[in-house]
Amino acid sequence: MSTSLTAPDPSPATQLRPIGPVDLAAERAALGPALEDAVLRVVRSGAYVLGPEVERFEQDFARHHRSPNPGVGVANGTDALIVALRALGVKAGDHVVTSPFTFFASAGAIAWIGAVPRLADVELDTALLDPRAAEAAIDARTTCVLPVHLYGQLADVRAFRALADHRRITVLEDAAQCHGAERDGYRAGELGDAAAFSFYPTKNLGACGEGGLVLSRRADVVARAKRLRDHGSPAKYQHAEIGTNSRLQGLQGAVLNVKLPHLDRWNARRRAIAARYDAAFADCAELTLVRAAPDATHVYHQYAVRVTGTVPRATVLEALQAQKIAAAVHYPTPVHFQEAARSWGYAPGAFPNAERLAREVVCLPVHPFLSDADVERVASATLAAVRGRG
Ligand SMILES: Cc1ncc(COP(=O)(O)O)c(C=O)c1O
Repeated sequence: MSTSLTAPDPSPATQLRPIGPVDLAAERAALGPALEDAVLRVVRSGAYVLGPEVERFEQDFARHHRSPNPGVGVANGTDALIVALRALGVKAGDHVVTSPFTFFASAGAIAWIGAVPRLADVELDTALLDPRAAEAAIDARTTCVLPVHLYGQLADVRAFRALADHRRITVLEDAAQCHGAERDGYRAGELGDAAAFSFYPTKNLGACGEGGLVLSRRADVVARAKRLRDHGSPAKYQHAEIGTNSRLQGLQGAVLNVKLPHLDRWNARRRAIAARYDAAFADCAELTLVRAAPDATHVYHQYAVRVTGTVPRATVLEALQAQKIAAAVHYPTPVHFQEAARSWGYAPGAFPNAERLAREVVCLPVHPFLSDADVERVASATLAAVRGRG
């Protein structure tokens, strides 16, 4: 007979099942043996770097995004941005316009190649780069505009295409968070000159490790990206320009091939969960929804709301965490507040919408393996917390 030396904890919170930002174990279980079989196949084949699994993925993912050219698999999403910028001809000293409200990589990639990030404010209601603000930030040295498809919905790609054509500059879409999303019928990469995807494990389509991909409808950009990911090499031991080593691994290609056929269904489940949250929060005066554009097919990489009542956001986060709900802030610090961005010359107040969003947003769990009961629990806990009853 076993005896417990500790008294049972009577508080209800300790009985609660944690609701995490992702559920990788549930995802693995849903895929059954296919995932492990695929990994084993690669281990046995020896095709560890690029190889047939990566080629298949480059083709299938491109087809999924209606790209006429196969994708270019690289080591991660940051490299996808770097390789795409270089493949588009962006060079040191060029100006590239992007969002101050994003994961730092969007702007960091620009600076990494010696170009200069020029920031423009986002729309307060969608948190997406505002095309008018971006246009105002374009100057004679600007060669590219880099909208970020934040939280799983596309920025206004038609507007960015139009302004880029007018100025004869390129559009690079940061598509790290928007696998399968559409705006006005277009997917990432269809209107831009290139799109950069990440397959970090928490993304809507995630590898078992790091991964990234460049998509472009321009054959010249695809050819150059392929060369750049392989030390600028068009053929073995020939180097036409300086590139890097950033090749997608065979193991990751195999994992992504297993997961890709599930992506649309998983995205649909994310949308259904978001619709439940939207309905639950519709009449809540203390919350402001981050809006989906009317022409968007959103894939809710994140479900973000703004805490705009009298209860401070930190208190709301604490209340949710006490309920074992993994609420998070993406992103608490705008790009121009980062120490690494100090030399870019932006003072606090430069981008009021980005700064406000950074103060107000909370992202709630929205992964496709949440049950309806989980969603109800998150919604009720959020409503209680913002009303000071959490
Ligand atoms: C908007 C955005 N851009 C770029 C990246 C960089 O991708 P990775 O982490 O694969 O390098 C991420 C990933 O977190 C991201 O969310």
